[in-house]
Amino acid sequence: MTDPLAALSAVDPQIADVIHREVDRQNTTIQLIASENFTSPAVMSVQGSVLTNKYSEGYPGKRYYGGNVVVDEAEEMARERACALFGAEHANVQPHSGANANMAAYLALLDPGDTVMGMRLDQGGHLTHGSPVNFSGRIYRFVAYGVDAESECLDYDEIRSVALAERPKLIVAGATAYPRTIDFARFRAIADEIGALLMVDAAHIAGLIAGGAHPSPVPHADVVTFTTHKTLRGPRAGTILCRQEHAAAIDKAVFPGLQGGPLMHVVAAKAVAFLLAQQPDFREYAAQIVANSRALAAGLADEGFRIVSGGSDNHLMLVDLRPFGVTGKVAQEALDLAGITTNKNAIPNDPEKPFVTSGLRLGTAAVTTAGMAEDQMAEIAALIARVLRAPDDAEVRDEVREAAARLCSKFVPYPDPV
Ligand SMILES: Cc1ncc(COP(=O)(O)O)c(C=O)c1O
Repeated sequence: MTDPLAALSAVDPQIADVIHREVDRQNTTIQLIASENFTSPAVMSVQGSVLTNKYSEGYPGKRYYGGNVVVDEAEEMARERACALFGAEHANVQPHSGANANMAAYLALLDPGDTVMGMRLDQGGHLTHGSPVNFSGRIYRFVAYGVDAESECLDYDEIRSVALAERPKLIVAGATAYPRTIDFARFRAIADEIGALLMVDAAHIAGLIAGGAHPSPVPHADVVTFTTHKTLRGPRAGTILCRQEHAAAIDKAVFPGLQGGPLMHVVAAKAVAFLLAQQPDFREYAAQIVANSRALAAGLADEGFRIVSGGSDNHLMLVDLRPFGVTGKVAQEALDLAGITTNKNAIPNDPEKPFVTSGLRLGTAAVTTAGMAEDQMAEIAALIARVLRAPDDAEVRDEVREAAARLCSKFVPYPDPV
């Protein structure tokens, strides 16, 4: 087979080598980062196409540059497919990323200094939900809600009382590390009680929503933002859905408010991802992600780990490592050396610092794409436990690394040269 990187290798062998080695890493180690996935060769071929050359400031039919008749079709298809997939009234497919999508939504709906309510960052909220080091926390006045200390699930009564006390103009629902189903109807009722707008950041669960494995926020929210590269398995980017009444403000906020020209190779790749997510097998895929997440959580609980909130309803779980006496930092590093890629993550009311943490966040979107099912989740749980019982034992790590490679050799995400 010819090497698709031959042309690159001739010009820049160093970067070609990085790509070859990264393909090898993704093919031979277990990927459990909850925000990652293996996108399809179809999506990657669009991203590597000549669409990258085109400047298209504006929107289809209303561009600031000539020569857009062809790419206009791609953006129109992406918009129509996004609306059809999620049952939305309007879609803006230009945000370069999830953070950009959130920034544009705030720009469209808020003025600087407005009060916004979002999930506590140390309990699962995202940086763009009001972190003091992020633009969101610097420009807007964020107030936070969290999870119940006992159940570790969203505490809707607390959310309601914070909303009544603080009267935010916008409520942000959605999280970066929350393993349970989110009740969007409940959020809507709270927003309606105080006359607030509701935005749902569905970055993580967009693919589950598209595949019918998580209730949709679209009927309840004014605006829904999401990333296209996590459970949705598309290119690395963002998208905004909204009600028609907000369409003009959202479009104006993305361009010219926030971004310059859209990345047309990525916009077209989003169209491909939306098409793939409309297929019947994507529903099976989404259901399998959740089944795998439940199986992995159950397997880890059997090994003696504590699973935050007692389990998982979506693609991710938070693992409390304290029964094993290791921190998130130690666990992430030991697992990395053992061929299992994870990320340390704070658990609710974590006594450790954010760079250390007591937990791991694990997600099953990528391993499910690779074809793994419940049996493999049990195997992975046993491998994780083996490493974390002896995180300093190099021999154990080497043995697990070999076992991980053997497992991955049966579920290779990129069998053909990429
Ligand atoms: C809930 C949530 N929103 C927004 C983002 C930001 O996405 P991006 O990294 O594409 O900017 C993330 C990323 O993980 C996320 O989890």
